[in-house]
Amino acid sequence: ATEETLVLVKPDGVARGLTGTILARIEAKGYALVDIRLVEPDRDVLAEHYAEHEGKPFYEPLLEFMMSGPSVAIRLTGNRVIEGFRSLAGTTDPTSAAPGTVRGDFGRDWGLAVQQNLVHGSDSPESAQRELGIWFN
Ligand code: CMP
Repeated sequence: ATEETLVLVKPDGVARGLTGTILARIEAKGYALVDIRLVEPDRDVLAEHYAEHEGKPFYEPLLEFMMSGPSVAIRLTGNRVIEGFRSLAGTTDPTSAAPGTVRGDFGRDWGLAVQQNLVHGSDSPESAQRELGIWFN
């Protein structure tokens, strides 16, 4: 089915100049951009976005990291785009993410309390709608 998803190029991806590379991979795969913006989220936005991780050991470092610089928020559409983008992104841990994926090709473990893994992609149609409402309002 045609879906929408929220993709974030996180602060590490933007700071390292990987936004264009990541967009090129998304476009080469054939997904369509619906909207795109540079965002500097405040704590409230991030607390909403990451509500499911509240209380985990990496929660505070995660919010600090996400406030360390701008992210690029992208509204993407396409058939099965949620699964498709997550496949392009690779697994959460960049050290073991498969080569050929964004995280596998450009990510690594920097020894920090939070995994800096370059991108975010919604994991279901429900989270996509919820997250799009947070980042595009
Ligand atoms: P994402 O899956 O987009 O959203 C939650 C984020 O928390 C995840 O990306 C990583 O940046 C970070 N994260 C998830 N699991 C861990 C972990 N075990 N240790 C540190 N950071 C993590």
